Amino acid sequence: MSKPRILVARAVFPEVIERLTQHFEVESNQADVVWSKAELTEHLRGKDGAFTTGSDRVDAEVLAACPQLKICANMAVGYNNFDLDAMTARGVLGTNTPDVLTETTADFGFALLMATARRITESEHYLRAGQWTKWSYDMFAGSDIHGATLGILGMGRIGQGIARRGAHGFGMNVIYHNRSRLDAATEADCKARYVGKEELLKMADHLVLVLPYSAASHHTIGAAELAQMKPTATLVNIARGGIVDDAALAAALRDKRIAAAGLDVFEGEPAVHPDLLTVPNVVLTPHIASASVPTRQAMANLAADNLIEFFTKNKGLTPLNPQVLGKT
Ligand code: DGY
Repeated sequence: MSKPRILVARAVFPEVIERLTQHFEVESNQADVVWSKAELTEHLRGKDGAFTTGSDRVDAEVLAACPQLKICANMAVGYNNFDLDAMTARGVLGTNTPDVLTETTADFGFALLMATARRITESEHYLRAGQWTKWSYDMFAGSDIHGATLGILGMGRIGQGIARRGAHGFGMNVIYHNRSRLDAATEADCKARYVGKEELLKMADHLVLVLPYSAASHHTIGAAELAQMKPTATLVNIARGGIVDDAALAAALRDKRIAAAGLDVFEGEPAVHPDLLTVPNVVLTPHIASASVPTRQAMANLAADNLIEFFTKNKGLTPLNPQVLGKT
């Protein structure tokens, strides 16, 4: 019997390609070319499955052109690159990579918060530029992390990881807002108190965004929300571009309406809003929150395992739309 045909849409660890090759006829993009939608569609034609990343958009048009496709395994916990309704309508399974990246991403969220509040990259640029000639009492004086109020918007697994780091490691007062309130035991474990969105914005010294992107969460933080924050506050976005109105944020940073921001994700990335590149009080990183070597390996292997599980047992390990299983 011939092996199922799969596409690996972006470059990935060679050992993962090796594993996949034992089960599938694999076309891989190890040159890591970023394909247009038309090119992705061309490569997907005739494939039974796909290993995708957050930069590969799978929508109704792509699906219509690739009727053989039965599964897209995303190497990411976020899956806003999938039109999941369209996939479900066509009986195409989507899978993601939850859990394996939770702690690494929470580590990074905390690192970005600290770099932002303590002005680490801004001061490093100053030093590298040869501008450091003397000590001054207020040179790059930032804000404290310990004892401050940490606000978290989006209290899933990663949000909870950040809450625990803040509460247990830094003695922070943690408040959060989420679509639904956590159970009492989880709140106690995170030492986190549920508040309304407005109170969160007003009270947080440091606000971290960890909510999933959808049409409903587009521009959750815009000019009106930034205006409610303390002028001394910092904002960290490790969620998705589009959750923050980047133009409004750049204006708020320029006018010192908030003190600083740390951003790992951007609207329209890898492009970055030009105004963000001109303000000094922002730490910018290229969507690397889950990027430790062991975690990226675990994510790639989980995506591969989802493909193997699907084609051998008609199951997914971490299915997003399990209702399609059994219908294929
Ligand atoms: C995710 O897993 O959703 C991260 O953003 C990785 O790209």
